[in-house]
Amino acid sequence: MEKLPANSFCLLSCVLVLFLSSVSAVADDPQDKQVYIVYMGSLPSGLEYSPMSHHMSILQEITGESLIDGRLMRSYKRSFNGFAARLSEPERERIAEMEGVVSVFRSKKLQIQTTASWDFMGLKEGKNTKRNLAVESDTIIGLIDTGIWPESESFSDKGFGPPPKKWKGVCSGGKNFTCNNKLIGARDYTGEGTRDNQGHGTHTSSTAAGNAVAGASFFGIGNGTARGGVPAARIASYKVCTGTECGSEAVLSAFDDAIADGVDLISVSLGGDDGEVLRYEEDTIAIGAFHAMAKGILTVNSAGNSGPDPNTVGSVAPWILTVAASTTNREFLTKVVLQNSKTLSGRSVNAFDLKGKNYPLIYGDYIEGSQVKGKILVSGYSVSSDVAVATIIRDYKDYASISSRPLSALSPDDFEFLVSYVNSTKSTQGTVLKTEAVFNQKAPKVVSFSSRGPNTIAVDLLKPDITAPGVEILAAYSPLGSPTEDIDQRHVKYSVLSGTSMSCPHVTGVAAYIKTFHPDWSPSVIQSAIMTTAWSMNASDIGVSSTEFAYGAGHVDPIAALNPGLVYELDKADHITFLCGLNYTSKTLRLITGEAVTCTGNTLPRNLNYPSMSAKLSKTNSSFTISFNRTVTNVGTPTSTYKSQIVLNHGTKLSVKVSPDVLFMKSVNEKQSFTVTVSGSNIDPKLPSSASLIWSDGTHKVRSPIVVYTDIPDSV
Ligand SMILES: *[C@@H]1O[C@H](CO)[C@@H](O)[C@H](O)[C@H]1NC(C)=O
Ligand SMILES: *[C@@H]1O[C@H](CO)[C@@H](O)[C@H](O)[C@H]1NC(C)=O
Ligand SMILES: *[C@@H]1O[C@H](CO)[C@@H](O)[C@H](O)[C@H]1NC(C)=O
Ligand SMILES: *[C@@H]1O[C@H](CO)[C@@H](O)[C@H](O)[C@H]1NC(C)=O
Ligand SMILES: *[C@@H]1O[C@H](CO)[C@@H](O)[C@H](O)[C@H]1NC(C)=O
Ligand SMILES: *[C@@H]1O[C@H](CO)[C@@H](O)[C@H](O)[C@H]1NC(C)=O
Ligand SMILES: *[C@@H]1O[C@H](CO)[C@@H](O)[C@H](O)[C@H]1NC(C)=O
Repeated sequence: MEKLPANSFCLLSCVLVLFLSSVSAVADDPQDKQVYIVYMGSLPSGLEYSPMSHHMSILQEITGESLIDGRLMRSYKRSFNGFAARLSEPERERIAEMEGVVSVFRSKKLQIQTTASWDFMGLKEGKNTKRNLAVESDTIIGLIDTGIWPESESFSDKGFGPPPKKWKGVCSGGKNFTCNNKLIGARDYTGEGTRDNQGHGTHTSSTAAGNAVAGASFFGIGNGTARGGVPAARIASYKVCTGTECGSEAVLSAFDDAIADGVDLISVSLGGDDGEVLRYEEDTIAIGAFHAMAKGILTVNSAGNSGPDPNTVGSVAPWILTVAASTTNREFLTKVVLQNSKTLSGRSVNAFDLKGKNYPLIYGDYIEGSQVKGKILVSGYSVSSDVAVATIIRDYKDYASISSRPLSALSPDDFEFLVSYVNSTKSTQGTVLKTEAVFNQKAPKVVSFSSRGPNTIAVDLLKPDITAPGVEILAAYSPLGSPTEDIDQRHVKYSVLSGTSMSCPHVTGVAAYIKTFHPDWSPSVIQSAIMTTAWSMNASDIGVSSTEFAYGAGHVDPIAALNPGLVYELDKADHITFLCGLNYTSKTLRLITGEAVTCTGNTLPRNLNYPSMSAKLSKTNSSFTISFNRTVTNVGTPTSTYKSQIVLNHGTKLSVKVSPDVLFMKSVNEKQSFTVTVSGSNIDPKLPSSASLIWSDGTHKVRSPIVVYTDIPDSV
């Protein structure tokens, strides 16, 4: 899951995975079987075929066992063909050679990564925001996550009619799990029921489509109306995680079902282990999303929480909308007030109220419990004391996390100031206040943990695509989960989380909002509308971590995205051409697309008709000229004249030409092509060189980032 923090878990699981894979090659010991996904591509047409019995007979043939209990873990049989099974290494090899088997690959463990945020983006509550409620209530969002807390007020079905007629799903959430007319579907791939005992899936579901619930807060912090982007939409919950561990073979099952169940959009706030980027053919989110795209369903996915280093973005397919995380204009501060009235502003979500009472401050990293009793500990380590009245720590983080005890985290400068004050003054006293929400005028800024490009799998495809609120987000939670990763007796219905897991459902909500006005728009049209209307972000901060590699096209703007003017359209064939351009073999192509595909011609990946343009140059110190071919479709005013404009970003020395530089549209759905030619020399080897192409007819501004770069070092 892509919520923070999850580092302690990841360290453990990464080591475990390495250990398992190192023993797996040694012997054919029954204890030694791994979960493999046996992927068989598209479902054969014809009524005779029974996928499940075919899967079992393959397993029986390979294992020589008639009882294959415990071997077959999942059958994919509704939207594509294949299964997941426990196999030894020799078995895996034999299966891989069988007729009809496209590929066999290891299942991986994935991580899960207020609503003030919707106001921040301009999607206000009430009459000032236009809504198409009849269509909104026919929109179904599928969330592949840790499940859901069905009793949350955010999912109450007060005022909802029966599920839309197109819905073909079920409510099989296990014991004591009831769906309603808001939460219309539940499936479980974990064996523990769809009930969310963690909190993550409840949070993401309510961010995308939760009801408006007034007076929601975390112990009064962030008090306001919690609501999703499309409060009238329906939710279907697909649980693939046990705790924070999510099997990629379960994710593929969830896609198989969600597509067949009739969801309109799929939201996946999950990603690979810390910093690991999977190739498309091993990435079950990419494979599932390809089938979804082919059926007209857009998948929105979190970029990952492995930033700020470059080359860390984990969601890399062009048929997925990949979301980075940034701040909103509300931030949480926890003040430290010293006896001399000096106030320092720290970070944390501290729900504890010391009622303004002063306590002695004591500084030190290794202090006995008895010494800190009744005092406030000032400690350079990021751990709170369970004996002290409160702890003040030094922290570099640019977001606030919930603390399980009274705590404020100071910036290194403020911390040094406090330490010298405590050292130089006899019997200093101070107090830590309860967290308050303040106005953050520097928003939006991409947060440090958000994974950055460049895309290491398709180097000429810019990722992430967009940024959205993912810092200090208040949304519904499961009272079974702990609000912190510490020992914490508190149980809450609303909680504050940060992560690209939180920004992803914001964009899912925006995509659903767009679909309510344009039900016929394909996934690529919605993606293009979101990207080309984004707020431009300021790349002037020094360093690769605050460039297009952090935010893609910019910050999502839900209202502007309703009316993009021109769009960059893509269909399944275009994506296949793109994969051909990456030199995928036909076997690998079958793995991703599920079909027998033959590549014709040789089209460069950068000519994929994507709403952004990016190219990796092979040499730094030479002059270059590269071009991008694009085609736009008119979805705005029938007769319109679009003129191109190039805006070079701060410090960029590029020459960019657009040909033709004026487009005359005479009807809706008319297409026009153009070529963007970029030339330059000796570009900065450490930073991307970038510009924006803006097509404008005086009403619409259709903006695409253009990025060229060479090898970007792995660390900032
Ligand atoms: C069912 O779940 C609800 C909500 O958590 C709980 O209050 C109730 O006790 C549960 N009932 C049973 C029989 O487990
Ligand atoms: C939240 O705000 C509402 C209205 O302003 C108020 O009635 C309510 O008591 C507040 N709740 C908390 C927990 O502070
Ligand atoms: C504060 O005092 C501690 C303990 O005597 C010492 O190690 C540290 O260097 C002092 N720090 C400052 C900033 O004065
Ligand atoms: C970008 O940041 C620079 C420096 O902080 C500032 O001068 C400039 O006005 C900003 N531009 C925009 C568009 O916000
Ligand atoms: C694909 O192969 C062609 C021909 O060998 C080569 O020119 C091109 O660089 C390769 N493309 C990629 C993305 O590896
Ligand atoms: C490449 O160009 C950079 C900056 O223009 C320069 O510092 C560097 O020495 C050059 N390297 C080579 C191998 O020419
Ligand atoms: C790109 O566009 C130019 C100008 O229209 C054309 O000559 C060229 O063949 C196109 N290239 C591709 C790969 O479509």
